[in-house]
Amino acid sequence: MNIQMKLDSKPRNQSGLADLNSPFLHNFWYVAGYAEDFTRELHEKTFLNQSVVIYRTEAGDLVALQNRCAHRSFPLSESWLEGDDIRCKYHDAKYNPDGELIDIPCQTKCPKVQAIRKYPIKEIGPLVWIWMGVSDVGDENEIPDTSWLNKSAGWEFATSSYHIEGNYMLMMENLMDLMHIPFLHQDTFNFPRSYAQMEFEIETEGDEITYLRFPTEQYHRNGLFPDYLADEFEDRNYQGKSGGRFIHPGMMYGIQELRLKDAKEDEREEYIARIPHFVTPETETTCHYWFFYTRNFAQDDSALTEKLKKTLEIGFAEDKEAIYWLQKMQICDKTPYQEINFAADKSTILMRKVIQKLVDEEYQTPD
Ligand code: FES
Ligand SMILES: [Fe+2]
Repeated sequence: MNIQMKLDSKPRNQSGLADLNSPFLHNFWYVAGYAEDFTRELHEKTFLNQSVVIYRTEAGDLVALQNRCAHRSFPLSESWLEGDDIRCKYHDAKYNPDGELIDIPCQTKCPKVQAIRKYPIKEIGPLVWIWMGVSDVGDENEIPDTSWLNKSAGWEFATSSYHIEGNYMLMMENLMDLMHIPFLHQDTFNFPRSYAQMEFEIETEGDEITYLRFPTEQYHRNGLFPDYLADEFEDRNYQGKSGGRFIHPGMMYGIQELRLKDAKEDEREEYIARIPHFVTPETETTCHYWFFYTRNFAQDDSALTEKLKKTLEIGFAEDKEAIYWLQKMQICDKTPYQEINFAADKSTILMRKVIQKLVDEEYQTPD
């Protein structure tokens, strides 16, 4: 069959799979930034097409409010703090940290009404989470577990972030696709080409998806494992575990574990690393991206932490560039086309199915 005959004019949408044209999912806690990003300065960030102003009260508590003055839409982030309240720069209206209008200077009476939206916001370890849900009440128990981003619990981490010029689904699909690592990252992460062909297992638990490969050789030479340990592992008998876990539409983490099968009594047996990725949609064509490498070994080695940070930044800049090109192609090229899948796409297809299910649930119209 002529390929033209198989194509329809709809872009990309494989039946039942979410993609970059899918609407945003609101009922989740998303990462808003690092805890240290938010101070007594007014800080604007856009999440899911909603402009939000974030600051700390004099007591240090976080506040997140709709950034748009209810009078004539002046950005509150371009205004100023008066104690814990915000005073709009345009006509001087004042809002308290609950988003209530509490002063209108040109009139004597001010109806104390909730005039702008207040977003639940929560600081946990190095990160700040924001609830973008349809209701204004976010259940903090639903914030994903990040207990391995905790130095006092025996983990040490490196972290950095990028602004991505692409839809968040392109980023999430990239993160759930380990097939690309030996190719796109051939000069950085040093995974053997055979890695892409390895069988992998997939498990689901609710909406979470875990996929794992079990390499037993060469894997210790990957660029995300310290060189000096790789030397020690050269002739050792070990079991590797390599994969990732999708947690929700704005979070997954990479899994990298090496377990020495011939560990001596006084030797560490398990070298566990998590590579968590947090993605928060900004607009349809951009997203925020924070990444970490957290490990349970060599916690005192600050030079290693610095080196891992550099490696991640170089490697993930390759993803950032790839996502830019994917998004550009979607915007600029209107040739009808049809996506094809490879065998190793199982994990990304499953994730897109789960996200499509979540989209259907959020956007379902009542009978
Ligand atoms: S726009 Fe803010 S008070 Fe008028
Ligand atoms: Fe990548």
